[in-house]
Amino acid sequence: MSRLVIVSNRVALPDRTSSGGLAVALQAALEETGGLWFGWSGRIDEETSGNVSEQQAGDIQYVTVDLSRRDHDDYYNGFANRTLWPLLHFRVDLVDYSRETYQAYRRVNALFADTLAPLLRDDDLVWIHDYHLIPLAQLLRQRGIRCRLGFFLHVPMPSSDLLAALPDHNRLFEGLSSYDLIGFQTERDLERFQDYVRLFGRGEVIESGVLATAKGHRLRAGAFPISIDTARIAEQAANAVGKASVKRLADSLSGRLLAIGVDRLDYSKGLPERFRAFGCYLGRHWEQLGRLTFLQIAPVSRGEVAEYQALREQLERLTGHINGEHAQPDWTPMRYVNRNFPHASLTGFYRLARVGLVTPLRDGMNLVAKEFVAAQDPSDPGVLVLSSFAGAARELDGALLVNPYDLDGVADAIAAAVEMPMEERRERWSSMMARLRTHDITAWRRGYIEALKAA
Ligand code: G6P
Repeated sequence: MSRLVIVSNRVALPDRTSSGGLAVALQAALEETGGLWFGWSGRIDEETSGNVSEQQAGDIQYVTVDLSRRDHDDYYNGFANRTLWPLLHFRVDLVDYSRETYQAYRRVNALFADTLAPLLRDDDLVWIHDYHLIPLAQLLRQRGIRCRLGFFLHVPMPSSDLLAALPDHNRLFEGLSSYDLIGFQTERDLERFQDYVRLFGRGEVIESGVLATAKGHRLRAGAFPISIDTARIAEQAANAVGKASVKRLADSLSGRLLAIGVDRLDYSKGLPERFRAFGCYLGRHWEQLGRLTFLQIAPVSRGEVAEYQALREQLERLTGHINGEHAQPDWTPMRYVNRNFPHASLTGFYRLARVGLVTPLRDGMNLVAKEFVAAQDPSDPGVLVLSSFAGAARELDGALLVNPYDLDGVADAIAAAVEMPMEERRERWSSMMARLRTHDITAWRRGYIEALKAA
């Protein structure tokens, strides 16, 4: 059997808690098969990049590299998170491009290729993840690597018109042709990619899932919606109800219902809009006043990037404003927490909640939405309020779908969730849970790997 090699910028090392769907999902996938996980160590060296560390946990071998302060600033904080991230989330207004950071992006990809190439065997299946590592396959091929190389984009694929705003986009996206298979989260992302190849590669679809460009490159691409370990989360959530942290939260509610949001503190998540929508709910649905407390957990992410710092300040002001306006002497409507929690506690929090608020402005998939559903108590499930701009909206048909820019619409959905009769809650939940039981993380991994083998 071939060894599975996963490559991603963020590696969920055994001794750290990492947030973000990618780390959680890849951890679950590698636990099933064992293999090698290669990527950034999460450490910054003041002088040089490239120091390699290794560790083993169960069947997973971890090999990671440190980055220098300069590479971290220009590649991670720079091109990856101030150029590609906003661009791929449809935020051209936030894109900050410079040749210098693009060079750093290529340099770090070359460093990954140099370090990884000697570790690879010809029959390995190498699965490279996300926007940080688009050029990696091309660089590995240049170093004589012949094994299967697959790519998966966790974030959305925007339209060609937006991608064209990136200087040198042709060169960057041409690198994708060195992969044997390119995976997207949804059919819509795949269609936009095909459109891009038609327009800028003067390519065409030659058979289902295969494109040819005018330069003679062949690209195999498909949609593989990522998922969660559904059975494990359901079990974790049921057990978590007995945990001290979950009991404390339940007690603190004094009989009120709970609405919960859990997101990395990121402008793609629509947090200011969500907070304002909650304020709007409090102002307009006064018949429900005092029945629902909103807990937003938002661990700080990419905190060195200016846009993230500005967002943090904005959210602090908004929370203060909303609580100031609507709180009563014995009740604070909103709780806002920047800490990260153990995954098991989060599943317990989800299970306590009547309402799950997942309202990103754009999201590749959003695994919190799926975890919220899997964590519910089948006899008394909560209601998911979900942005139609999250990839998950294509599958989670039992959610109350909202447009996150429509604050009144989100406010009404929250009110509807509070009032929703048990029978309707169960019906909506069952159809989503049935989907998640069959389309879980194992189905995602198998579906992709089988397609990569066949490519
Ligand atoms: C998103 C990205 C991942 C990333 C995660 C956390 O899910 O698609 O590639 O790992 O956010 O962000 P961070 O910058 O902390 O790795």
